[in-house]
Amino acid sequence: MNKMLTEQDFIFKNNSEDIPKKGSFTWKTPSNIALVKYWGKRDPQIPENPSISFTLDACFTMTTLEFSKRETRHFELDSKSNNENLKQVQFDIYFEGDKKDDFKPKIQKFLQRIKQYVPFISNYDLVIRSRNSFPHSSGIASSASGMSALALGIMSLEKELNPNMTDDYFNKKASFLARLGSGSASRSIEGELVVWGNHNDIQGSNDLYGIKFPLTIHNNFKNYHDTILLVDKGEKQVSSTIGHNLMHKHPFAEKRFEQAHQNLSQLSTILQNGNLKGFINIVESEALTLHAMMLTSNPYFILMKPNTLSIINKIWEFRTQTNSNVCFTLDAGANVHILFPEKEKQSVHQFIETELLQFCQNNHYICDRVGFGAKQIK
Ligand code: PMV
Repeated sequence: MNKMLTEQDFIFKNNSEDIPKKGSFTWKTPSNIALVKYWGKRDPQIPENPSISFTLDACFTMTTLEFSKRETRHFELDSKSNNENLKQVQFDIYFEGDKKDDFKPKIQKFLQRIKQYVPFISNYDLVIRSRNSFPHSSGIASSASGMSALALGIMSLEKELNPNMTDDYFNKKASFLARLGSGSASRSIEGELVVWGNHNDIQGSNDLYGIKFPLTIHNNFKNYHDTILLVDKGEKQVSSTIGHNLMHKHPFAEKRFEQAHQNLSQLSTILQNGNLKGFINIVESEALTLHAMMLTSNPYFILMKPNTLSIINKIWEFRTQTNSNVCFTLDAGANVHILFPEKEKQSVHQFIETELLQFCQNNHYICDRVGFGAKQIK
């Protein structure tokens, strides 16, 4: 079951002429929030340190992949032709009903990258229809849920060509492909906790794809809540691609990567023994370290906003006053994810409504919780 797969295992080998003519697959794929952060990578999308995330539930992307067979088999043309245009995978992309040519370059790059593992996509004209459950301009990254939904659609097509494929292989290859679109997307296939990146203490963990956290999760972390406070819905000034790259010559990089390994070791124990105070300590430190890496990059940058800091201070105050187990984490942006156990949901919701909403843009926030992974919609 937990056999580790290599890159070679992901190369599609069946070259049969007998391929389905047309059809479509729809997947609903969640976003995720990292507890130990991935920040820094090498080609091809190999993380410099392992990470772990809670899979979310309410924040998702729904993507339908329509495919229809082309008249000429394309990868035969590929080998004989030098024309780059002929080698491109043919597709159209619609987002929330509208044709989005400006989304094409990113997706074209992704499809070109994964074509060596799924060469059959060149035999089809593809139409991708996508929508998010969260507003597009909410500052919530849609690359994790978006890329994993597309990877799953392509895997459903591969399963038509290879019906004997196991679910385990299906999920691993979906995560492998999604990773090549966006690193964090590799953690959006399964739930409730997913590890991506090689770590000595976590059996089966590796740099190529995410795996379900393989140990028993304490009840304290079941149904954990994540309320996302939308502090700034604008486009980020610095993309995560640039941020990852700035880790290359970063003066603190090596220590940071080492620390992520240690934090994941400790968090792995905590997730099993239910130590909520230990959880808070690691998760908040990880969030601040991520932003500390941005502050100390060259060029340096700040993605937090004044309201991000106000929320953090309010959470610390509330914890001192009430001994609550609420804590925060941050993505590469100004929004704040408020994490808390199921049994504190009433008191924390009340705290959010009375104390924190004033710091959100237009009072907007999203109530989410830990989820169980992607679902195919039949
Ligand atoms: O998947 P990317 O390349 O957008 O990077 C995501 C990085 C963080 O969200 C900041 C951390 C993480 O592990 O998700």
